[in-house]
This record gives sequence, C-alpha cells and structure tokens, in this order.
Amino acid sequence: MKIHYQGRWAVVTGASSGLGQGFAARLAERGMSLVLTGRNKGRLDETARQIRRVAPRVKVEMVAADLSTRSGVSALLEHVSDRPIEVLINNAGFGSYGPFAESDSDREADEVAVDISAVIALARAFLPGMLDRGSGGILNVASTIAFQPAPYQAVYGASKAFVLSFSQALWAEARAAGVAVTALCPGPTRTGFVDALGADVGHTAIYRRLADPEPVIEAGLRALDKGRAVVIPGLRNRVVAESGRFMPREWLTRVSARLLRPLDPTFRAPIEVRNRDGNSRLGRTRLGSVD
Ligand SMILES: NC(=O)c1ccc[n+]([C@@H]2O[C@H](COP(=O)([O-])OP(=O)(O)OC[C@H]3O[C@@H](n4cnc5c(N)ncnc54)[C@H](OP(=O)(O)O)[C@@H]3O)[C@@H](O)[C@H]2O)c1
Repeated sequence: MKIHYQGRWAVVTGASSGLGQGFAARLAERGMSLVLTGRNKGRLDETARQIRRVAPRVKVEMVAADLSTRSGVSALLEHVSDRPIEVLINNAGFGSYGPFAESDSDREADEVAVDISAVIALARAFLPGMLDRGSGGILNVASTIAFQPAPYQAVYGASKAFVLSFSQALWAEARAAGVAVTALCPGPTRTGFVDALGADVGHTAIYRRLADPEPVIEAGLRALDKGRAVVIPGLRNRVVAESGRFMPREWLTRVSARLLRPLDPTFRAPIEVRNRDGNSRLGRTRLGSVD
C-alpha cells in the first residue's frame, strides 16, 4: 500500500474530541495538511491550536458541520472539492444505551446517519481519486461491539457491524490499486464517547474499564500503513472479539446482553410470553411478573 503523508491533505471527522483529536495530531506530525470537522467550532479551534503548537507549518482548515444531515456532509465535500484527499479518517460517531423499545427514535436515526451514511458518503467521494492516483488510505472507526449483537446498544452495535463489513469489502476492492482501507475496532476507550451516550453505563461490565486513547490511535495508523483490513487494539479486546466466532450466536448474544444490561435490577431482557389464548408477544419480567 502507498500512502503519501508529507504535504498531502487528510480529512478527519470527529476532530473536535477524543480519538479524532489524536488522529489529527499524529497526521500533522507526519506533515499532512488537515481538514478537521465536527459540530463544535470552539473545540475544533482548540484542536487546531494544539496542532499548530506541535506542527506550526502544517495547514489546518476547519469545517463545522453536522454529519447527521445531508447539508452537513455536502458542506464538507464542497469545502474540499478543489483538492485531492490522500487520507480519510472516518471517525465521527456516537452511541446510545438502553432498551431499544424505549429509545429516542430521532437520536437513533441520527446515529445511523453519522455512524453509517456519512461514512459511506465520504468514502464514496474520496476513494475514486485515491484509486486513480494509486495511493491513499481510508481508516473507518468501527468498534469491538461490531463482532456480536449488542442488546441495549442495538442500533450502535449494528452500525459498527456495518462499518466493519463495509471496510473489509472496500479493502478487498481497493488493495490491488495500492489503496488501504482499514477498520479500526477499539474497545471501550477514555474519550468523550461515554458521556455522549447520554446514559449512565459505569455499572456495565463493558464500560467499567476504559483504555487510553493514544495506543488505539497508533494501532489504527500503523494498520493503515500496513494495509491491514481490520485492527483490534489490545490483547483482551482481540481475545473477546475473536472468541465470539466459536460460540453459537444465541449464546453470544445472551453473554453480550449480560455484559451490557441496565442497572435496574428488576429489568430482564425481553422474553417471549404467551397469553391464555396462545398468542405470543414480547414482554419483560419485573420481580417475577410479566408486564
Ligand atoms: N471511546 C470508545 O469507547 C469507543 C469505542 C469504540 C469505538 N468508538 C468510536 O470512535 C469514534 C470516535 O469517538 P470518540 O471515542 O473519540 O468519542 P468522542 O470523544 O465523543 O468524539 C466523537 C466525535 O464525533 C463527532 N460527532 C458526533 N456526532 C456528530 C455529528 N452529528 N456531526 C459531526 N460530528 C459528530 C464529535 O464532534 P462534535 O460533538 O463537535 O460534533 C466528536 O468530535 C466514534 O466513531 C466511536 O463510535 C469509540
């Protein structure tokens, strides 16, 4: 794979916080000019300030855009339409937590728009140029949640499963042209992500321990350099993600439900219940009764 860093342009989405800030800084150190995007203009400015401190010669441009909207995606694409993009870091994303039946459907729709639709739109916009030039790379940030269904994070888990599968497919299509496509699958990591979930998840086995972001960023960029399709940073994350392959799907999903279940001790995962007339419906048990 060939990726030219020095003096070339990179687009980093979600550059106003967490992993995105780190990706921007690491690419600046490699001499890349940057287009940073996120909704929060103040935090984008802060990212740009940090970058200029470590790499004063690097060009940094900002596009404040909401990637859950078509107009936000278009604003970003228009901003960069005059230049070749060598590296795309498709990193912006957020999750939600709680029983799907009680979820906010607008928020779930926005999640799909940012975590899936924007990822597709940006890859579609920049990949052809990379293929023509025979160099470049796309790093799509998926998650370890992509490797099994995620009860109580059903839409987020399915979105990241999409990103993983999509990235692997593009990896196979692009590699002969020398273009790298990598899915980075971090486990729970100390960024703004958990706060942005909008729900307390500190009690879950999954989110109890958070990893440092720096090794995750390094692992992603290293894997992109090597042209790897998928990278899962951290031995524990790799073992958990890979072990699921050997389990029956229903077991795997029940284990996942247990690891993510809500704090409410009376809450049980949805079960099928039958009325006296034999019709089945989904219900859930609270203190032994069905409601
Ligand atoms: N941290 C983890 O535990 C973890 C684990 C696995 C995967 N991931 C993935 O890692 C990626 C980066 O997240 P992070 O951990 O760095 O979390 P973060 O600190 O919350 O950063 C998320 C970034 O996404 C941007 N974003 C969110 N909604 C957006 C929207 N509608 N339009 C444009 N930008 C938007 C945010 O910018 P604004 O708020 O300024 O819009 C922010 O810069 C995400 O794709 C996440 O799913 C995180």
